Amino acid sequence: MDVNLTCNLRYHNKVALVTGGSKGIGEGTVRVFVRNGAKVAFCARGEEAGKKLESEVNQLGPGECFFIKCDVQKEDDIKRTIQSTIDKFGQLDCLINNAGWHPPEQVIDDISVDDLKSLLNFNLINYFAFAKYSLPHLRKTKGNIINMSSLVAKLGQSHAIPYVCTKGAIDAFSRALAIDEAKHGVRVNTVSPGNIWTPLWDSLARQSSNPEAMVEGGRDAQLNGRFGSIEESGQVCLFLAAEATFTTGIDFLLSGGAELNYGRKSQMVERTNIYD
Ligand SMILES: NC(=O)c1ccc[n+]([C@@H]2O[C@H](COP(=O)([O-])OP(=O)(O)OC[C@H]3O[C@@H](n4cnc5c(N)ncnc54)[C@H](O)[C@@H]3O)[C@@H](O)[C@H]2O)c1
Repeated sequence: MDVNLTCNLRYHNKVALVTGGSKGIGEGTVRVFVRNGAKVAFCARGEEAGKKLESEVNQLGPGECFFIKCDVQKEDDIKRTIQSTIDKFGQLDCLINNAGWHPPEQVIDDISVDDLKSLLNFNLINYFAFAKYSLPHLRKTKGNIINMSSLVAKLGQSHAIPYVCTKGAIDAFSRALAIDEAKHGVRVNTVSPGNIWTPLWDSLARQSSNPEAMVEGGRDAQLNGRFGSIEESGQVCLFLAAEATFTTGIDFLLSGGAELNYGRKSQMVERTNIYD
């Protein structure tokens, strides 16, 4: 490849593994990394969407990508995915733990103990296992881990206790791991999206009692009055991996300012006017 061209590639010949990379934020991350010269392995459960993205992105280049079928809730699948990445590309520079799920609205009375255990396994344990089995490879390259958290780990969210628990745990896990891995030169950061328009957001809106109002509320939560895009999500991951080499243990709010300002929060049914 032309030397002048490779100079502009921000992750040229580096190897990234993106979990849940066939759709949504993961897809945006695969696209941005390959556009910047990286070799990207990505996994998801659905083979059709994975293979389709693999062939489309490989035609665009200049990096390359490789789809691996994997259920991140299965430890053996996780080990196999990491081994396949190493077999294919020979090294690992960046793990992007992204695969996760937000259940539809639920209140504590209807959430079983098993529901919480199951979501912890899905959202948290999978990140732990991917990190644990990737670290022997990341220590060799002095690489980095990016864990996809959520703005609601910081703010809380109504009718989402298990989800908020899992994302809060991911934040705490990431800070503790950042401390332990510093001596190996491995950085660990989190990205906390607010409202990014993805298939997950779309499906949650469709399952709500008033999809239009939910989409409008999601859009208006940002100061700039729009959802974030999957490409913008990938750009933040690339920045943390490629340029933000003096960061570890940080949380990057990818939120369009959704956390700023006071909002209408009272859930009190009766209120008195302070001027009465
Ligand atoms: N979209 C948002 O606004 C938002 C906000 C905050 C946090 N997040 C977090 O970002 C991450 C990605 O969210 P998204 O909105 O892009 O989701 P999405 O559902 O649109 O995409 C998820 C991806 O993960 C894959 N996946 C799902 N279950 C899997 C499994 N068991 N094994 C392997 N792959 C699996 C899917 O195939 C898909 O490729 C999640 O961790 C989510 O909690 C998203």
